[in-house]
Amino acid sequence: MNLDKAELGLRDRKAPLEMSANEFRSIGHKLVDEIADFLISLPDRRVSPGESPNEVRDLLGTNSLPEIGVSPEYIIEDATKLLFDHSVFNGHPRFMGYITASAAPIGALADMLASTVNPNVGAWTISPIASEIEAETVRWIAELLGYPSNCGGILGSGGNTANFIGFLVARRAKSNWEVRQRGMSGSSSQSLRVYCSSETHTWIQKATDQYGLGTDSIRWIPMTDQLKMDTEILEKTIEQDKENGDVPFLVVGTAGSTALGSIDDLPRLAEICREHDLWFHVDAAYGGFAAALPDAPQDLLGLREADSVAIDPHKWLYSALEAGCILVRDPQAMVDTFSYHPSYYKFDASGEGLPLNYYEIGPQNSRGFRALKVWMGLRQAGREGYIRMIAADIRLAQILNQLVEEAKDLEAYTCSLSITTFRYVPSDLNLQNDEREAYLNQLNSELLTELQDGGEAYLSNAVLGDKYLLRSCIVNFRTSLEDIEALPGIITRIGKEIDKRLRS
Ligand SMILES: Cc1ncc(COP(=O)(O)O)c(C=O)c1O
Repeated sequence: MNLDKAELGLRDRKAPLEMSANEFRSIGHKLVDEIADFLISLPDRRVSPGESPNEVRDLLGTNSLPEIGVSPEYIIEDATKLLFDHSVFNGHPRFMGYITASAAPIGALADMLASTVNPNVGAWTISPIASEIEAETVRWIAELLGYPSNCGGILGSGGNTANFIGFLVARRAKSNWEVRQRGMSGSSSQSLRVYCSSETHTWIQKATDQYGLGTDSIRWIPMTDQLKMDTEILEKTIEQDKENGDVPFLVVGTAGSTALGSIDDLPRLAEICREHDLWFHVDAAYGGFAAALPDAPQDLLGLREADSVAIDPHKWLYSALEAGCILVRDPQAMVDTFSYHPSYYKFDASGEGLPLNYYEIGPQNSRGFRALKVWMGLRQAGREGYIRMIAADIRLAQILNQLVEEAKDLEAYTCSLSITTFRYVPSDLNLQNDEREAYLNQLNSELLTELQDGGEAYLSNAVLGDKYLLRSCIVNFRTSLEDIEALPGIITRIGKEIDKRLRS
């Protein structure tokens, strides 16, 4: 074959993305050193940069796609600086906003290792040990919760995805027609109905919308004064729908609601589902891992009776983003929901034992090795270590609640799992009724913005009835008693300044 000079160069390709071993070693070591320094420096840094969108955008400018590449050393240095100087640090001890955990450092090393080997955990044949590690991770998560460890399960990007998978498995299992072939129009005279509390996370709207049921299929069940789904109203609503010819198929219980951390009466929901032959799914994305605690509330332990449980390692297992997990009591139900056998795949490995092909039990095809960081965290801390960290987060939330109750200008509202809600109320405020509430809502909303921008601590908000509340959520093994004790002082100081400004 006649090859020209350029083609002959293919014998010794110099790909623009290749790095020599020495180059990788020296850049990699430097980066690891910088990450170690960064982790130690976290308590001394601002939690948030407090920069405007335009200020952050201007850091990158409006450059076009580079025509010619630059050295990896320069790129890593540049990216490290950008990220270390212009991020909100959820790994900071005083980050208590939303339900985003401090990430365990071992996950950073796990991600590097996973990206290096780069197994495609869609099929066993092309990811043998990674597939087995994911299976072990799923089994350990089930064990930690006290859920049957012979369940099916798969990791996904987070709570939304895990809940979507549970939803699809339930839809196939409980619809009384061939929903995979005929879709939602397959039963034109009947409508599937979903039951969940008014506190349910917004994934349920996305699921009913995306998978063809429409959000009108959701029966929003009100909460009791104890902030649990009202099970009497639930039962009545199910009966009514049946009388109207609809098809109730799914009850969603929440184990740790997003805003307040409240837990539904899961054992009662399980009973109702058994009585009415409905799929019982628990969204335990946030609170599920608290079931591992020796003093876990009975209401929470009802998740062990569920047909499926969504739970997020990137919340209370402190795994780096992203890692969600769905557990399904009957593993075959996942295969029945997702499996197809295209001719272009030959993934039926020979030898003993059936291979586990994740593309057959979930929506993804090519899949990354999310499980590695979760598996390493479980090995590093063990059951005992996780129990200690989760219990400490909950205790700190309770202490914060006590401090708020004792503080002159703070009003405590709720404290459940590791979420505490409260608001700033100046003791000399002379407004009444609606005017007072409107003022306090504005004051607390501005207080939160200033707190988040100020960089001293990071909280989020909750709305309870018509009250705008400050919300602390501790899924953070770095938060200490000292951080909690500092909060009331920081909040009342900022509150006072805003109150003075608003009144003048
Ligand atoms: C109860 C609950 N379910 C689902 C989700 C969605 O999880 P993710 O953001 O990981 O998709 C959240 C997020 O906070 C949640 O609190």
